[in-house]
Amino acid sequence: TLKMNVNERFDCYPGPNATLEKCQQLGCSWEESTDPDIPSCYYSSSNPYLVENIDYSDSGIVATLNLDDSRVRANEAYTAPISTLRLEVKYHLNNMLQFKIYDYQNSRYEVPVPLNLPSSPLNSSQERLYDVSVQIKPFGIQVRRRSTGTVIWNSALPTFTFSDMFIQISTRLASQYIYGFGEHEHPNFRHNMSWHTWGMFTRDQPPTYKLNSYGFHPFYMGLEEDGNAHGVLLLNSNAMDVTFQPTPALTYRTIGGILDFYMVLGPTPELVVQEYTQLIGRPVMPPYWSLGFQLCRYGYANDSEVSQLVEEMKAARIPHDVQYVDIDYMERNLDFTLSPRFAGLPDLVNRIKADGMRFIIILDPAISANETNYPAFTRGVEQDIFVQWPDTKEILYSKVWSFLPNVQINESLPHEDQVENYVSHCAFPDFFRNATTEWYKKEIAEVYNNSDPSKSLKFDGLWTDMNEPAAFMNGAMGGCRDDLLNYPPYMPHLGYRDVGLIYKTPCMEGLHYLPDGTPARHFDVHSLYGWSQARPSLVALQAATQERGIIISRSTYPSSGRWVGHWLGDNTAAWDQLHKSIIGMMEFSLFGISYTGADICGFFKDSQYELCVRWMQLGAFYPFSRNHNEKGTRRQDPASWDEAFEDMSRNVLNIRYTLLPYLYTLLHDAHADGSTVVRPLLHEFVADRNTWDIDEQFLWGPALLISPVLRENDRSVVAYFPDARWYDYHTVNTGFRKQFQNLSAPLDHINLHIRGGYILPWQLPARTTAYSRLNAMGLTVALDDAQSAAGHLYWDDGVRIGTASPSSLHQTLLWLGTAKGGSIPGDTQADNTKPKDVNWGEREQTLGWKGWTWPRPFRGDRSELTFRGKTEVKPADQRYRNVILPD
Ligand code: NOJ
Repeated sequence: TLKMNVNERFDCYPGPNATLEKCQQLGCSWEESTDPDIPSCYYSSSNPYLVENIDYSDSGIVATLNLDDSRVRANEAYTAPISTLRLEVKYHLNNMLQFKIYDYQNSRYEVPVPLNLPSSPLNSSQERLYDVSVQIKPFGIQVRRRSTGTVIWNSALPTFTFSDMFIQISTRLASQYIYGFGEHEHPNFRHNMSWHTWGMFTRDQPPTYKLNSYGFHPFYMGLEEDGNAHGVLLLNSNAMDVTFQPTPALTYRTIGGILDFYMVLGPTPELVVQEYTQLIGRPVMPPYWSLGFQLCRYGYANDSEVSQLVEEMKAARIPHDVQYVDIDYMERNLDFTLSPRFAGLPDLVNRIKADGMRFIIILDPAISANETNYPAFTRGVEQDIFVQWPDTKEILYSKVWSFLPNVQINESLPHEDQVENYVSHCAFPDFFRNATTEWYKKEIAEVYNNSDPSKSLKFDGLWTDMNEPAAFMNGAMGGCRDDLLNYPPYMPHLGYRDVGLIYKTPCMEGLHYLPDGTPARHFDVHSLYGWSQARPSLVALQAATQERGIIISRSTYPSSGRWVGHWLGDNTAAWDQLHKSIIGMMEFSLFGISYTGADICGFFKDSQYELCVRWMQLGAFYPFSRNHNEKGTRRQDPASWDEAFEDMSRNVLNIRYTLLPYLYTLLHDAHADGSTVVRPLLHEFVADRNTWDIDEQFLWGPALLISPVLRENDRSVVAYFPDARWYDYHTVNTGFRKQFQNLSAPLDHINLHIRGGYILPWQLPARTTAYSRLNAMGLTVALDDAQSAAGHLYWDDGVRIGTASPSSLHQTLLWLGTAKGGSIPGDTQADNTKPKDVNWGEREQTLGWKGWTWPRPFRGDRSELTFRGKTEVKPADQRYRNVILPD
């Protein structure tokens, strides 16, 4: 027989321990491969479906797929394939199409996440960016970019099969440049295409190579060889895996639901994200204060410890906007309660808020069932909000955080024994139900407005943890009952495969009810649990506080970004984690979640001085900038090291705070238009292929390049400068361009560069944003080669709900105009304040300069403002700052 090029092999035995014998039983070919990642057992015949009744129209394609019984292969995929399927291709927009393959005779589970689809598909095909054709025998779909002829999807491959619990489809890819899929800790932003498989299923899994973590994002962006970009979402929520191979090709294997693909055609990477977030919903607009620096840890002993920390930060004059408490504040880890050790917390929260700070508390979803007087549980039972057993409709109990009453806890016992002896049974709120949202609102409101005012906790945001949902045991009390669901015939490449799907989570037969009352199995909606909690959490928070607030969620699904931000979970105090955090944020930029960051200085293990310094520097450029660590580890907040550490932290956070008007504008732009905040270089410079692999540097929007040190003992960093004029943020130097450059990076220094052609709004920093918002503002104008620059500022009071809702956006968007040469066009009106020409090199002088104070006209109200500016250029610097004045 003719040997097949290994790159053309498609794995016929994706389970473990393939053998010649098993392979032959499947009717596939066997050729032992020396590389364990390259399949030895591969398909040697085409897929068994063929197309009948195909109907092409201006708005799409409809066809029937029939199984050719004579060609059904022995394995056909773990369960018998469905004999008749329907294919629907819909041309929704010129840049967006859907192709859906489903069983139209028997309804199957479909993902209940609403998408923004146009009410009617296109009917004229003139401007469409794509053409679709269907291959009849064997079945396949091809999508081609019209302008270039590039085929960006081609599924006419042997793998295609569709059965109840095993659905598989492969596509050839347009290139080796694929980004996305999650949530995983990826070693690089660009995928390694050399035979790698990644599982997806939400899980309480600290970031670990190849293991599926908290979120579920079956979305990727592909670059074509010419730099055009497209994005593909598989709207499916069942446990799945994806395999990349160097063909280049991609194979999806999911164990339920249907195939429902959405493709956006860009053609630029930024447009891919804008089009994707138009489909799934734009990222939430965070409040201004949530861009401030935040401190947390697990294991605060009591409220005095928190109070003392706040005082130390204040004494050290280190910016500190938000303080947290982890589960320690609860009585025996029970949601909505207050531990006696934290009896002083409500008062502390009021005090720090009076001083301009904000406060966030953690909530876990699971609710203890072992209390005698616990309204959260009894009201939940009354309102019938908990996940049930499908047969008896009784509540399904597992175990998570909360401890039983009246137990003496021996902390030296192993975790399993502690769980066995001390942890309560708990129930999982079913957040799909409207009743659960109502219940959640009430419970959260009572924490905020307790009947005893000395117990009211005036929090400003909620941190929703453990919502994969996580459990401290596999399955439920009494054991799970449905082996088929819990140990499915095909187990995707998820860690702990021997435990089945129930590893650290409740049983798959758990019963949920969707908002329209349709029952849904946990098996299908497991990875939507965090998603389902997102909106109710924000609704409850805003109802309680009457402010915009922020939710930080651990588990996410496409469109979670509409309501929540995300931290990257339980990382470790280790050097590799700095790089991984950049990759993680860039991926969440693709996923439409812009408010992201990792635990600064590391969650697990004791942090170390130099690591923590470098992490504070990098973390100062996380949109969500929070230092947090695990119980039992050493203190790692910036006030806990030494004076030099305090100085370094203060300095870098002062830079962050100076740039917050720019960051806030970027977050607004993400909310309004779906642009990215943490932006990969390839999004701005896609014509430069060097950028396609850069993931040790990132941009804030289009204009600020961040090149952190990521390695121990390094006192320099190799940074890439794409083709533009770049100004060193600290020194004014310019000149690096289209080259890798070795930059000096002493321990107290992070390299930052401003891109010519942009105007960045800034404001003098302060200890919290409540104070910094009262300071003078200005602009940094960085000219490009043509001596021009442009920029804009979004500004509002920072807290009002709906201030930045898409419908009102354009009223509040402040355009700052274009600077060319020495003045802003149209700016002929003189003003009384003589603009001060600020020397770039004299930063101290800049900061000490007193301009007008802000924001007299903005307090409480949303104002439409225009600015007049007057500028002078210092030719030597080729850039200038100017003052902006309220009209
Ligand atoms: C797990 C979270 O990921 C972590 O951040 C938190 O400190 C612990 N749960 C305790 O609540």
